[in-house]
Parts: sequence; C-alpha cells; structure tokens
Amino acid sequence: MNACIRAAVRTGIYNGINMFGVTQGYQGLINDSIIPMGARSVSNIIHLGGTILKTARCLEFKTEEGMEIAYKNLKSRDIDGLIVIGGDGTFTGARNFSKKYNDIKVMGIPGTIDNDLYGSDFTLGYDTAINTVIEAIDKIRDTADSHDRLFFIEVMGRDSGCIALRSAIASGAEAVLLPERFTSIDELVTQLALGASTKKSSSIVIVSEGHKAGGAYDIAKQVKERFNHYDTKVTILGHLQRGGSPSSFDRILGSRLGFAAVNELIKGNTREMVGLRGNEIKTVKIEDALNNHNFKLEGDLLEMTKVLSI
Ligand code: F6P
Repeated sequence: MNACIRAAVRTGIYNGINMFGVTQGYQGLINDSIIPMGARSVSNIIHLGGTILKTARCLEFKTEEGMEIAYKNLKSRDIDGLIVIGGDGTFTGARNFSKKYNDIKVMGIPGTIDNDLYGSDFTLGYDTAINTVIEAIDKIRDTADSHDRLFFIEVMGRDSGCIALRSAIASGAEAVLLPERFTSIDELVTQLALGASTKKSSSIVIVSEGHKAGGAYDIAKQVKERFNHYDTKVTILGHLQRGGSPSSFDRILGSRLGFAAVNELIKGNTREMVGLRGNEIKTVKIEDALNNHNFKLEGDLLEMTKVLSI
C-alpha cells in the first residue's frame, strides 16, 4: 500500500494537484484527520509493509450523519477526489458516498492479501503474502523431511483459497484444502496414504482458514484418528502473512495502480476501480466489482495440485 500511496501522491503533485493523506481510512475523514502530503512525505516508504496512513474499520461512515461530516471535512479543503484502497467494505463506502455527494469523485484500488476481488488479476499484498507463506513452508519442510512428519499449515483466506492454492504449487505441498472446494477427511486420508505407500517420508498439507471441515488443528485431529502413519504437527501462520517488506511485484503493482488512479480522476472518471488484467491496467465500475465479488480460482493450478503431488 505504501508504494501505491507514494505513486498517487507524486502523480498528483507532478500534475499540479494539492494532495492530502487521510489517516485511518473513513474514520479519519470523519475525525478530520486529513494531512497535506508533499513529494517528501512519501520518501523512503516504498519498501515498508503496512500503511503509513494507517487503517481502521468505521461503522459511522455507513450512516448519513457520518458521511455528511466526512463530506464537510473534504469540502473545507476544496478536495474533489478521493482514492480508496481496500476491498468490498471500502468500495461499498466509496460507492455510497459518491452517490450521495457526486461532486467528490472516487477511485478504488484493490488491496487485500486474499486476491478475491473482481476486476483485477492480482490485488495489492497478495504476492507478498504468498512469498511469506512459501518462505515459512520451506523452513517447516526441513523439519518435516528430517523427522518424517506430516505438517498441517494454516494460511489466511476466510472465504478465498487464493493464498492457499498458489502457496501449495510454489511450496510443493502434498495437499491443499480450500474454502471454495470441499475436500472430505476421507479423500485427504486416501491421498496421504497413497503418498505413504509410494514411500513419501513426510507430507505438507496447506489448510485455508475458511475450509468447511475446520481449521488446521481440527483437520489434523480428524486425520490422525484415521491415519496414524506420521508424527503430525500443526502450524498456523496467522498475521505474519499480512506484514513485511513488499515483493517487487507488489511494489510495481502498487506504483502502477496509484499512478493510474490519479490519472483516471484527472480524466474526470469516478466510481471506478483500477486493476491489473492481463498485465494491463484497466478500469472497472465499482458497482461491477461489488456485484461480481466471487473470484475464480485458477483452474490450471487446481488441476496441477492433484498431478504434481503424487
Ligand atoms: O484481509 C483479509 C484477511 O486476511 C482474511 O483472510 C482473514 O480472515 C482476515 O483478514 C483476518 O483479519 P483480522 O483478524 O485482522 O481481522
């Protein structure tokens, strides 16, 4: 997100626009936490995780009163454009706000490690999260292999298996459990038993936190009751997936999206989201991004998980 903020601020300034940063998202709009940003305000941040502007959940922005306060705070500074980075909740707020106050143009940027937004092949943070996951799994694999163990590794993705699926391919996991696709304990046990029968001395199963059969601890317990071939361990990667220095891919994506968002506002466009599609930056209506929420898992990767794990 910092690479994106940097790009947006500098693109605006390059074009002679006064730029402001709003701290803590919509809450900051209501609290009047709006600060002028110059080219130097965004120096030395491109390599930082998190967001220098901070973020917050804000229920008040869902109310007419909350939106009105935000509007007045923007107008008092002659601000006529708003760039928001986030997912569904963020875009719903932006859409509702700009419908009510259409003299404020809004542009969305897809930012979530879950990669579950329509209109962008990749969302900001997703690639970095996968890199973090595979770095962790590579290390866990050393123990799995040396001690002949079965590891269940839980990754983020309450409703989306994107992190799990890509991590499974990149780390060479034996199995992956996704929220979008139910895998029964029987199926999993059959797969692990097949590996054991073909002399796999250790195995790694990636569990997306949203899998319907439970979290990694539950699944490990259920598997152990039916298949006790390996010593079994569980690791929950948790919030470490949401931080850390961004990958080069995310820095470039953030820069492209921040740059594009300002240019779209300059053209007078509003209620759109800028995204990456087929390595080109394209826009989609925020309404469409919201209505087509479900992101499809990459079919070829799904197919490969079965084939490459034999
Ligand atoms: O950003 C989305 C997500 O990563 C989900 O996959 C996960 O369930 C959630 O955030 C956890 O976030 P928190 O616990 O910080 O609200």
